[in-house]
Amino acid sequence: MKKIISVIMFLLASVSGFAQEAAKKTFWEDPFNSPMLPYYATVAFIGIVFFLIIIVLVILIRTLNLFIERVELQRAKLTGKEYVPSPSWWEKFSQKLNDSVPVEQEKDIELEHDYDGIRELDNHLPPWWKWLFYGCIVWAVVYFFIYHVSDSLPLMKQEYDTEVAQAKSSQQKASAAQPQNAIDENTLVYTKDEKIIERGKEVFARNACGSCHANDGGGNTIGPNLTDSYWIHGGGIKNVFSTIKNGVVEKGMPAWGKAMSINDVRDVTFFVMSLQGSKPAAPKAPQGELYKPAPEKSDSTKTSAPVK
Ligand code: HEC
Repeated sequence: MKKIISVIMFLLASVSGFAQEAAKKTFWEDPFNSPMLPYYATVAFIGIVFFLIIIVLVILIRTLNLFIERVELQRAKLTGKEYVPSPSWWEKFSQKLNDSVPVEQEKDIELEHDYDGIRELDNHLPPWWKWLFYGCIVWAVVYFFIYHVSDSLPLMKQEYDTEVAQAKSSQQKASAAQPQNAIDENTLVYTKDEKIIERGKEVFARNACGSCHANDGGGNTIGPNLTDSYWIHGGGIKNVFSTIKNGVVEKGMPAWGKAMSINDVRDVTFFVMSLQGSKPAAPKAPQGELYKPAPEKSDSTKTSAPVK
């Protein structure tokens, strides 16, 4: 059973694997352009035809039975005997399953117990139940042999361990193929990279930065306005990055470097930088110092805002 299930799972997985390779979108996202459309359509078509054939067969058999019944009735009339319809296959089948004693014969299996008029019948267990029980015993023996004697299939714990090992090795492969470029405040340079800013916007929303800084960054009673050019901890990319990464825990700004990946911190920093000069609905009054970007070329006069 387990093998059958795993074969089915494998087939399903490989089918969806094909689909993803070819289209990148799953079948349900874009059914009409999916390469799997002919396949699913054929399966659905065969299923419907099969269903219709069964319905037609059932109707035919019922009509046939009706005719047979009429002929039998006529014959019974001619011979003067009483017509007793033969039991249908379902009646025979359910009798086989239950093997119950008909009400007329219950007297034969009555026990002598009588509790205030409530009597007891000596019914035996229904065959369907017995077969289920025997089946369980057989299954237990097979299971015990496969999993604990011959060890031909892995136990749950082993399955888990191999899956974890597989995931680890594929993770290692992936990270080896795509080395993480080290992100830190010393090398970070802000560019209006749409992709990074878009991802940063998601990080901002996902971590509910808006609950303290307002969704448009305009600030609220807790957090400062992130859209103006006044900064408590400096407005350069390096300052903003390290404020978000390390937080200002004593003032209520969490250290996000502990809660999210360094990539996410970079992305949300870019998003915050992109808010500069935007017009929030209810901007909070400026806090901190006006930040003037440092001049491009190094200058002997100190005009740049303090870099922490
Ligand atoms: C629990 C409330 C809270 C949340 C959530 C929060 N912040 Fe803050 N944040 C603050 C507070 C308070 C300050 C001001 C700290 C201070 O006064 O030194 C601050 C300061 C900042 C600053 C520096 C502002 C300046 O003027 O120097 C930045 C940038 C910032 N937050 C970004 C974020 C980002 C991005 C997120 C989401 C990942 C976020 N914050 C989530 C409360 C919050």
